[in-house]
Amino acid sequence: MKPDSHLLPCLFVFFFFAVVLPVVSHSASTFPVNIWPKPTTISWPIPAASPLSPSFTILSSHPSHPHLSAAISHYKNLLLSERHQPLRPPITPHAADESYSLSVSLTGLATLSAATPWGAIHGLESFSQLVWASESRLLVAAGINITDRPLFPHRGLLLDTSRNFIPVEDILRTVRAMGYNKMNVLHWHITDSQSFPILLPSVPELAVKGSYGPKMQYSPEDVRRIVGYAMSYGVRVMPEIDVPGHTGSWAEAYPEIVTCANKFWAPAGKPALAAEPGTGQLNPLNPKTTLDQLLQTFISKTHPLITGDLNRTAVYWEDVILSPTVKIPPSTIPKENTILQTWNNGPNNTKILAAMGYRVIVSSWDFYYLDCGHGGWVGNDGRYDGLATGGDGGSWCAPFKTWQRVYDYDITEGLTEEERGMVIGGEVAMWTEQVDGAVVDGRVWPRASAMAESLWSGNRGEDGKKRDADATDRLNEWRQADGGEGDWGGADSAAVVRRPSPDV
Ligand SMILES: *[C@@H]1O[C@H](CO)[C@@H](O)[C@H](O)[C@H]1NC(C)=O
Ligand SMILES: *[C@@H]1O[C@H](CO)[C@@H](O)[C@H](O)[C@H]1NC(C)=O
Ligand SMILES: *[C@@H]1O[C@H](CO)[C@@H](O)[C@H](O)[C@H]1NC(C)=O
Repeated sequence: MKPDSHLLPCLFVFFFFAVVLPVVSHSASTFPVNIWPKPTTISWPIPAASPLSPSFTILSSHPSHPHLSAAISHYKNLLLSERHQPLRPPITPHAADESYSLSVSLTGLATLSAATPWGAIHGLESFSQLVWASESRLLVAAGINITDRPLFPHRGLLLDTSRNFIPVEDILRTVRAMGYNKMNVLHWHITDSQSFPILLPSVPELAVKGSYGPKMQYSPEDVRRIVGYAMSYGVRVMPEIDVPGHTGSWAEAYPEIVTCANKFWAPAGKPALAAEPGTGQLNPLNPKTTLDQLLQTFISKTHPLITGDLNRTAVYWEDVILSPTVKIPPSTIPKENTILQTWNNGPNNTKILAAMGYRVIVSSWDFYYLDCGHGGWVGNDGRYDGLATGGDGGSWCAPFKTWQRVYDYDITEGLTEEERGMVIGGEVAMWTEQVDGAVVDGRVWPRASAMAESLWSGNRGEDGKKRDADATDRLNEWRQADGGEGDWGGADSAAVVRRPSPDV
């Protein structure tokens, strides 16, 4: 059929005026908007909501059309008298609006706009990458427009500072590089069985006795400095004090509350007390209770402290409800104020948690653990010999996760549309049994950059195909972006961490 020039379609143009201030993306809903029948296409990449103005009105470009005018009138009344509260209560997203737009005109005027400081910080970062040195001048790309926002609101790095202490300066350099990569959460795994490096004024003995030494502690001032510095790079710090297992380090100060501390971790012929040296867990006290009940009691008592008294969202490792040995009923941890972080079984566990209605952070070890493949560190542990090593000294999660593996991971693979909405993002994890300040840059970067891009704008090109080939050249350039200060440690490192930093 050919177009008929006599039959022009009627075009109705509406302008909706919803005078709203402020826009609240913070209290918006990740609950899917429910239009019935379902629209053919709908795009809501950053779920957000604005209050409907009491002076809301609908203006029509065809005000004299009788039926349309009547429809506008009754829809306006319907809207303003809406009382429906969704059956499933909206969930507050863990997200700020990080979008920005940036343009540099050919005449040299640059304009950056964003709804929040976080979007503005990301825009400043992008602008800094539009500038380069050419002989003795600096050039800036001109005639360029960028509109940008992340696919996932949570793009993190887990940094363990218990297995090895990571000095403050190294943490600051790491969060700065996170900002350069538009990553926004430092999941600070502060304590574990091996050491308790944070000096808590209420219980200083935990660090005094449980840290590796006086120079390997974070003072309250250090913590404030890290948190404030991170915010100036658009990075939020999410602290973790590992409990109730992984608490052997507490026993140095409070032996009476810890059980199994300082034991040989893998006694011959018996179940191992821990996965690696550093045994100890908070003592259940009542040996007649089951471990499931104990964990439930522990979480029922501590969850309200976080979500009620502190008014925060609690993040738990998936083990609290998926562990094959000790777990609690999901009803103990309400979905409204609990996020679960998955690390096992790749996309399978992500799907299980999302289907249960929890928001999920993905840290699947088989893709996102940055420590894997560096061999065993316990001399007498033969369990992983031969595992992806061809010889002795395997590591439990071998092999090494290459940047391509990190980049290509589709964290919502196999999920329904609704389940996908529950996945707030991911974290690469830097467990530090074999990492300290001397090597942390090369272990984290550029592989964390690979996740950063994958979660910001995806890992596929416009043709729908994985774009790691295209990313190779860009990532090479990016890891080299050191401000001309020279090469810092070979192909496995990332010079970008060493960009000039007037503030540290
Ligand atoms: C960039 O955006 C400005 C303002 O919207 C517009 O005038 C200009 O044509 C755009 N330039 C390009 C290269 O798209
Ligand atoms: C809890 O935090 C939210 C978000 O920051 C805030 O809107 C709310 O007022 C807080 N509630 C209480 C009781 O402090
Ligand atoms: C996920 O589940 C599928 C189907 O049961 C199974 O074949 C696969 O091995 C599982 N993957 C992981 C990583 O557990």
